[in-house]
Amino acid sequence: MWLYAGFILLPLRVLATRRRAPPLGEGGLGAQFSPQTGGPTVILTARGQPADFDEGAADYDRCVGPFSGPIFSLALDAMAPYLRSGSRVLDVGCGPGAALRKVARLVARGEVVGVDLSLEMLRLADERARRAGLGNVALFQADAAELPLPFTGSFDVAYSCLVHHHFTQPLASAQGIAASLRPGGVYAAIDATGPRLTRLATPLARAVDPGWVRFWGRQALIDLLVAAGLERVSWTPLAPGIGMAIGTRGSGLAS
Ligand SMILES: C[S@@+](CC[C@H](N)C(=O)[O-])C[C@H]1O[C@@H](n2cnc3c(N)ncnc32)[C@H](O)[C@@H]1O
Repeated sequence: MWLYAGFILLPLRVLATRRRAPPLGEGGLGAQFSPQTGGPTVILTARGQPADFDEGAADYDRCVGPFSGPIFSLALDAMAPYLRSGSRVLDVGCGPGAALRKVARLVARGEVVGVDLSLEMLRLADERARRAGLGNVALFQADAAELPLPFTGSFDVAYSCLVHHHFTQPLASAQGIAASLRPGGVYAAIDATGPRLTRLATPLARAVDPGWVRFWGRQALIDLLVAAGLERVSWTPLAPGIGMAIGTRGSGLAS
């Protein structure tokens, strides 16, 4: 399954810092979707999605978690200036929800909405959020390229972690995510983009990663966010070959 990521990239784990997150400032749009759903609960909105991502959902955290967890911790440090205690946050391609739970604990007066194509991933995210006692989470089965209409203009912050390389409609997905932001909201796209890492990982991804489409180079990912209408797109390196493109929704983006 995604075992290659664990084997090749496990050494990156040592790069993760274990700093305690500073308390977030006041503000943010607050909770909108989780009070409506009454908790984590999976809302079905996607129509007839391929089952690719359901395979291996149960093994995902064990195989990929040692790699994606530290990467996301580094990204979260870099995203901290954009988060408030009441932020409404969208996690695109949330998988079984490890990142989503970290953010939900931070934005205690706001919420995190996770979307994923895979019902199996969402079931796990739901179960684990419940077990963690998190009430400020809502989960939707949706394609990033066809996000539910009520999402439009509704989020302070959106992020995706290790998801862009799966998008079959990258521009529509980036545009949909950009449209989900309020004016001034930010989108952080975290993925493997370094030429050496992606060259090494491409044959393995082709062979064993369900739903893998292509890796994006750093500039290509920045250009994609710009093409989606985001402004002031900048780049934060997180670990060798891995980084985060982050852009802001201006007031002019059509919703
Ligand atoms: C490699 S996993 C990343 C999971 C999690 N973000 C993490 O960092 O561990 C990619 C996830 O993206 C989801 N995904 C792929 N394409 C998607 C799309 N078009 N819309 C929504 N989710 C998608 C998959 O179902 C899978 O759960």
